[in-house]
Amino acid sequence: MTAFGLREEAAAAPALRGCFVAGTDTGVGKTVISAGLLHLLGRRGLRVAGYKPVAAGAVWHAETGEPGGWRNDDVEALLAAGNVELTRAELCPEVFEAACAPHLAARLEGRRIEPQRLIDGARHLMPRCDALVVEGVGGFCVPLAEAAGAGGDWGTDDLAVALALPLVLVVGLRLGCINHALLTAQAISARGLRLAGWIANRIDPDMACAADNIDTLTRALQSRHAAPLLGVIAHIESPDAGLVADQLDAPAVIAALQLRR
Ligand SMILES: Nc1ncnc2c1ncn2[C@@H]1O[C@H](COP(=O)(O)OP(=O)(O)OP(=O)(O)O)[C@@H](O)[C@H]1O
Ligand SMILES: [Mg+2]
Repeated sequence: MTAFGLREEAAAAPALRGCFVAGTDTGVGKTVISAGLLHLLGRRGLRVAGYKPVAAGAVWHAETGEPGGWRNDDVEALLAAGNVELTRAELCPEVFEAACAPHLAARLEGRRIEPQRLIDGARHLMPRCDALVVEGVGGFCVPLAEAAGAGGDWGTDDLAVALALPLVLVVGLRLGCINHALLTAQAISARGLRLAGWIANRIDPDMACAADNIDTLTRALQSRHAAPLLGVIAHIESPDAGLVADQLDAPAVIAALQLRR
């Protein structure tokens, strides 16, 4: 056992396939693009599932023909975009009511997030699919579990390391995104992870010089991290998974994630 009760043998477990979708921030389109990636890979004949390790912000759904329980928008979107049968609890092992930083949402409920549970949850899904699309939580360095005493926190970056999936970075195109993208890419590399590629998402339709921002990032992320651009997603009124998939560069995604189809 290591800090946070993580089992040492996890390192020897079979490698996961798919990707870990990180964002330059919260609200930049990780869910929209994870759903698009699921749709794209599903279209290519792969068995795909989404995984949201922690969701903060849920409403209670009463029994109405289907089982009641907490409902979270990200979980619903990923459930709809995948093609493997799985329960909401399998897709997302930790759901909290409050829409705030996850470790604080857990604290409000007198609960703690258990890192091993999040790692096991992803591993549990893998035998049923060819690719798992893990949506991160907020940006890349978000605390999830608080260490007792003077120890450090365990967060989304540690989860990405434990899952050892290639990273796909969603850059929400708005003023400031170049700095956010380069800092996030640096943090990903510093943790020894592979940044497989990045996706530009036009969350701000009025952004000045959007094309030049994309050019700048394309050059910087390619030269510093060998990370190609995998697609530019236009601002879409209701960005459904199929429309997003249409705007991704399918061969580049397959190559970046080292999948067979
Ligand atoms: N290309 C787009 N065009 C228009 N709206 C978009 C686009 N991408 C994302 N959005 C909208 O922006 C909002 C945030 O997107 P999304 O929920 O995918 O972000 P997120 O990074 O997953 O957020 P969180 O950190 O809460 O998980 C949503 O309302 C979504 O519909
Ligand atoms: Mg989301």
